[in-house]
Amino acid sequence: MKRHPALASLSRDHHSALRLARELEDVGRGGGRDPVRAIEALQRVWKTELAGHFAWEERWFGRILAETIELELLLAEHWNLRKHIEAALALTAPSAQLNLRIGHIGVLLRAHVRWEERVLFPAVERVASEDDLAQMLAAADQPASGF
Ligand SMILES: [Fe+2]
Repeated sequence: MKRHPALASLSRDHHSALRLARELEDVGRGGGRDPVRAIEALQRVWKTELAGHFAWEERWFGRILAETIELELLLAEHWNLRKHIEAALALTAPSAQLNLRIGHIGVLLRAHVRWEERVLFPAVERVASEDDLAQMLAAADQPASGF
Protein backbone atom coordinates (compact mmCIF):
# COMPACT_ATOMS: atom_id res chain seq x y z
CA MET A 1 0.00 0.00 0.00
CA LYS A 2 1.28 3.46 -0.88
CA ARG A 3 1.95 5.64 2.14
CA HIS A 4 0.50 9.17 2.31
CA PRO A 5 3.33 11.67 1.60
CA ALA A 6 2.79 13.19 5.07
CA LEU A 7 4.01 9.88 6.56
CA ALA A 8 6.73 9.14 3.99
CA SER A 9 9.62 10.68 5.93
CA LEU A 10 8.61 8.74 9.05
CA SER A 11 8.62 5.55 6.95
CA ARG A 12 12.11 6.42 5.72
CA ASP A 13 13.25 6.76 9.36
CA HIS A 14 11.76 3.31 9.93
CA HIS A 15 14.14 1.80 7.36
CA SER A 16 17.16 2.98 9.35
CA ALA A 17 15.48 1.90 12.61
CA LEU A 18 15.01 -1.60 11.15
CA ARG A 19 18.67 -1.73 10.10
CA LEU A 20 19.69 -0.80 13.64
CA ALA A 21 17.22 -3.32 15.11
CA ARG A 22 18.75 -6.15 13.04
CA GLU A 23 22.25 -5.19 14.19
CA LEU A 24 21.13 -5.12 17.82
CA GLU A 25 19.40 -8.48 17.51
CA ASP A 26 22.60 -10.00 16.08
CA VAL A 27 24.53 -8.75 19.13
CA GLY A 28 21.84 -10.22 21.41
CA ARG A 29 22.36 -13.62 19.76
CA GLY A 30 26.09 -13.35 20.47
CA GLY A 31 27.07 -12.54 16.89
CA GLY A 32 27.49 -9.37 14.89
CA ARG A 33 29.53 -6.45 16.07
CA ASP A 34 31.25 -5.73 19.35
CA PRO A 35 28.51 -4.83 21.89
CA VAL A 36 30.30 -1.62 22.91
CA ARG A 37 30.29 -0.52 19.26
CA ALA A 38 26.61 -1.49 19.02
CA ILE A 39 25.87 0.75 22.01
CA GLU A 40 27.70 3.60 20.27
CA ALA A 41 25.58 3.04 17.14
CA LEU A 42 22.43 2.93 19.27
CA GLN A 43 23.41 6.16 21.01
CA ARG A 44 24.12 7.91 17.70
CA VAL A 45 20.85 6.83 16.05
CA TRP A 46 18.87 7.53 19.22
CA LYS A 47 20.23 11.07 19.62
CA THR A 48 20.21 12.08 15.96
CA GLU A 49 17.05 10.35 14.68
CA LEU A 50 14.95 8.17 16.93
CA ALA A 51 14.35 10.43 19.95
CA GLY A 52 13.14 13.24 17.67
CA HIS A 53 11.11 10.77 15.60
CA PHE A 54 9.32 9.51 18.74
CA ALA A 55 8.62 13.09 19.87
CA TRP A 56 7.31 14.03 16.41
CA GLU A 57 4.94 11.05 16.32
CA GLU A 58 3.68 11.77 19.83
CA ARG A 59 3.11 15.42 19.03
CA TRP A 60 1.15 14.85 15.82
CA PHE A 61 -0.55 11.53 16.48
CA GLY A 62 -1.40 12.67 20.02
CA ARG A 63 -3.80 15.12 18.44
CA ILE A 64 -4.93 13.11 15.39
CA LEU A 65 -5.48 9.85 17.29
CA ALA A 66 -6.63 11.39 20.59
CA GLU A 67 -8.50 8.89 22.80
CA THR A 68 -7.85 5.90 20.55
CA ILE A 69 -6.34 2.56 21.51
CA GLU A 70 -3.68 3.12 18.82
CA LEU A 71 -2.42 6.23 20.65
CA GLU A 72 -2.45 4.43 23.99
CA LEU A 73 -0.37 1.59 22.51
CA LEU A 74 2.00 4.01 20.77
CA LEU A 75 2.74 5.88 24.02
CA ALA A 76 3.18 2.64 25.96
CA GLU A 77 5.62 1.23 23.38
CA HIS A 78 7.61 4.48 23.20
CA TRP A 79 7.79 4.61 27.00
CA ASN A 80 9.05 1.03 27.10
CA LEU A 81 11.65 1.57 24.37
CA ARG A 82 12.93 4.80 25.95
CA LYS A 83 13.31 3.02 29.30
CA HIS A 84 15.29 0.12 27.79
CA ILE A 85 17.42 2.39 25.58
CA GLU A 86 18.31 4.69 28.48
CA ALA A 87 19.20 1.69 30.66
CA ALA A 88 21.41 0.24 27.89
CA LEU A 89 23.16 3.57 27.27
CA ALA A 90 24.05 3.76 30.96
CA LEU A 91 25.98 0.47 30.62
CA THR A 92 29.45 0.88 29.15
CA ALA A 93 31.42 -2.22 30.08
CA PRO A 94 30.91 -5.41 28.05
CA SER A 95 28.80 -7.92 29.99
CA ALA A 96 26.18 -10.59 29.42
CA GLN A 97 23.63 -8.08 30.71
CA LEU A 98 24.64 -5.58 28.04
CA ASN A 99 24.26 -8.14 25.23
CA LEU A 100 20.88 -9.19 26.56
CA ARG A 101 19.65 -5.60 26.78
CA ILE A 102 20.93 -4.76 23.32
CA GLY A 103 19.25 -7.81 21.80
CA HIS A 104 16.00 -7.06 23.62
CA ILE A 105 15.96 -3.49 22.30
CA GLY A 106 16.46 -4.88 18.79
CA VAL A 107 13.46 -7.21 19.18
CA LEU A 108 11.26 -4.45 20.65
CA LEU A 109 12.30 -1.89 18.04
CA ARG A 110 11.68 -4.19 15.08
CA ALA A 111 8.25 -5.21 16.39
CA HIS A 112 7.40 -1.58 17.13
CA VAL A 113 8.31 -0.34 13.65
CA ARG A 114 6.35 -3.17 12.01
CA TRP A 115 3.32 -2.39 14.20
CA GLU A 116 3.48 1.29 13.26
CA GLU A 117 3.66 0.47 9.55
CA ARG A 118 0.91 -2.17 9.67
CA VAL A 119 -1.49 -0.71 12.26
CA LEU A 120 -0.66 2.81 13.40
CA PHE A 121 -0.02 4.53 10.06
CA PRO A 122 -3.13 3.05 8.40
CA ALA A 123 -5.12 4.31 11.43
CA VAL A 124 -3.65 7.80 10.97
CA GLU A 125 -4.47 7.71 7.24
CA ARG A 126 -8.05 6.65 8.07
CA VAL A 127 -8.70 9.21 10.80
CA ALA A 128 -6.69 12.30 9.80
CA SER A 129 -8.43 15.11 7.94
CA GLU A 130 -6.95 16.50 4.72
CA ASP A 131 -5.99 19.56 6.77
CA ASP A 132 -4.16 17.43 9.37
CA LEU A 133 -2.23 15.66 6.60
CA ALA A 134 -1.36 18.93 4.86
CA GLN A 135 -0.08 20.42 8.13
CA MET A 136 1.91 17.29 8.88
CA LEU A 137 3.43 17.32 5.39
CA ALA A 138 4.46 20.97 5.78
CA ALA A 139 6.01 20.23 9.19
CA ALA A 140 7.87 17.19 7.84
CA ASP A 141 10.00 19.57 5.75
CA GLN A 142 11.19 21.18 8.99
CA PRO A 143 11.86 18.15 11.20
CA ALA A 144 13.63 20.24 13.84
CA SER A 145 10.71 22.61 14.32
CA GLY A 146 9.20 22.51 17.76
CA PHE A 147 12.08 20.58 19.39
FE1 LIG B 1 7.86 5.48 14.22
